[in-house]
Amino acid sequence: MLKQLGFLLLLGAGFAQAVETDGIYAKLEMVQSSQVDYQIAIEEGKTRSLMCGYCHGKDGNSLKPDVPNLAGQNTKYLLKQIDLFANGVRKNYVMERLVKGISDEDRINLAVYFGAQPVVNAQPQVEGGKGKTIYQSYCFACHGENGLGGDELPRVAGQPKEYLLKTLTAFKQGQSSRKNSPMVGIIQKVDAADIPALAAYIAGMR
Ligand code: HEC
Ligand code: HEC
Repeated sequence: MLKQLGFLLLLGAGFAQAVETDGIYAKLEMVQSSQVDYQIAIEEGKTRSLMCGYCHGKDGNSLKPDVPNLAGQNTKYLLKQIDLFANGVRKNYVMERLVKGISDEDRINLAVYFGAQPVVNAQPQVEGGKGKTIYQSYCFACHGENGLGGDELPRVAGQPKEYLLKTLTAFKQGQSSRKNSPMVGIIQKVDAADIPALAAYIAGMR
C-alpha cells in the first residue's frame, strides 16, 4: 500500500510541475469570482455552444457513445482541453478544427456553461466487483472517491462507457495524444482484460 501511494505521489508531483499559469486561467478565476460575470459567461457560453450540441448534447450530456459528457465537468479541465486541441497537442480531427477559431473569452464562456450543467446518467450503476476494487486501488487518489475529480483533474463519473473504454485503452497502448499524462503510467497497473469492468463501474458512478 505504501509503495503504491509513493508511486501515485510521484506521478502527482510530476503533473503539478507541468501545470501552466497562463493568462487565460487567471481570467477564468476572475469570471468565477463574480456572480454577475459568472451568470453572463453561462449565457454567452450557451449561445456559443450550439455547434457543440450535435455531439456533446445541448446541455453537455453526450448524444453519442464515443463522445464525452461536458456537463458537470471541471471548468478548468474543460478550458485546458480546448486549449490543447487548439494547439494541436491533444489530437482529434473534428475538435482541433472546431476550437481553433474560438476566442479566449468564448473558450472561457463555453467551459463555464458546460461545467455548470447537471449530469443526466442513464447508465446502470455497478455495485461492486473488480471494477470497483481497481478504482479504489489506483484511481480515487486523483479522481476522487465519487469520480468527481477537481480543478484540472477530470470528472470521470458517468462518462459514456464506450468513451471510457476507448480512452483508457488508448492510454494503455501508448496511442493517446496526451503523451505526458500520468494516465499512461497508471493504466499499466490494470490488466487489459479488466478495463471493461473498470469502465462499466465508472460509467455507472453518480
Ligand atoms: C462532431 C462531433 C463533435 C462536435 C460537434 C464537438 N465535439 Fe468536442 N469532442 C468530440 C469527440 C469525439 C471528443 C473526444 C476526443 C477524444 O477521443 O480525445 C471530444 C472532446 C471534447 C472535449 C474534451 C472532453 C474530455 O472529457 O476530455 C472538450 C472540452 C470538447 N470536446 C469541447 C467541445 C466544444 C466546446 C464544442 C463546440 C465548440 C465541441 N466539443 C464540439 C466530438 C465533438
Ligand atoms: C496521479 C493522478 C491520477 C491517477 C492516480 C489517475 N488519473 Fe486518470 N487522469 C489524470 C489526469 C491529470 C487526467 C487528464 C489528462 C491529463 O491531462 O493528463 C486523467 C484522465 C483520465 C481519463 C480521461 C478523462 C476524459 O474525460 O477524457 C480517464 C477515463 C481516467 N483518467 C481514468 C482513470 C482511471 C480509471 C484511473 C485508475 C486506474 C486513473 N484515471 C488514475 C490523473 C490521474
